[in-house]
Amino acid sequence: FGLDPTRAAPAVRALTDGIHPHLELRGVHAHLASGLDAPELLAVARSIVTWAAELGVGLFEVNVGGGMSVDYARPESRFDWAAYGEGLARLSDTYPDLTLRVEPGRALTAYCGWYATEVLDVKHSHGEEFAVVRGGTHHLRTPATKGHDQPCSVLPVDAWPHPWPRPSAAGDRVTLTGQLCTPKDVLSRHVPAPGLRAGDRVAFSLAGAYAWNISHHDFLMHPRPGFHFLNHHENGHTIGDDGEVRAARPRGDR
Ligand SMILES: Cc1ncc(COP(=O)(O)O)c(C=O)c1O
Repeated sequence: FGLDPTRAAPAVRALTDGIHPHLELRGVHAHLASGLDAPELLAVARSIVTWAAELGVGLFEVNVGGGMSVDYARPESRFDWAAYGEGLARLSDTYPDLTLRVEPGRALTAYCGWYATEVLDVKHSHGEEFAVVRGGTHHLRTPATKGHDQPCSVLPVDAWPHPWPRPSAAGDRVTLTGQLCTPKDVLSRHVPAPGLRAGDRVAFSLAGAYAWNISHHDFLMHPRPGFHFLNHHENGHTIGDDGEVRAARPRGDR
């Protein structure tokens, strides 16, 4: 999407030569990168603003886009918003008549979502242990598209209601996969999960951005996950399979 910068000059001319008086050029909107740390993203912002200023027309606004990093390998780390803000302030001082805008996506919402599922089976194949979880990359495609291991926590469940023996991991590391008929359906590789059993739950974190929305939901026509929205009082609401929004039960009524 967007416009090649080499084609900007005629577009700007068409908006500023008076032939279309009902159209007013307000500014430039750019989104050039994804997953950058603060110094890299500031360099991008500087290059956009410099380029926009060199267009030589009076601009009111420049939107330098999103692209703030989320580190899936180190989920506790955070984009350095303070350094980025200070850098933008310095940039803004250089162009005092310009309104600078940013539009972060991933780094704001990734931390707000979890994908919770359960282990259906644990099996050995070609010397590796795999746990197949209910669902997979048709719900959470992020690790498949970005090639990372989705951070996760195992929540052990003691109950095993079935009459057959409970499958469990013999080793320390287990690769967590989904149910799809493709070797690409991998959520996290070599997860330290000694003794992981069928019936245990797994909660994948950093699932609040580019997760459900970018997934191929109907691959193999498996059921869709439920969506539960919590507010900070823990009395959020739930969206049922029928799409109906219901108040979550208050605490103590579970
Ligand atoms: C135009 C535009 N702005 C902002 C964003 C947000 O980017 P990010 O999630 O990397 O912060 C996107 C993401 O694709 C985008 O297309």
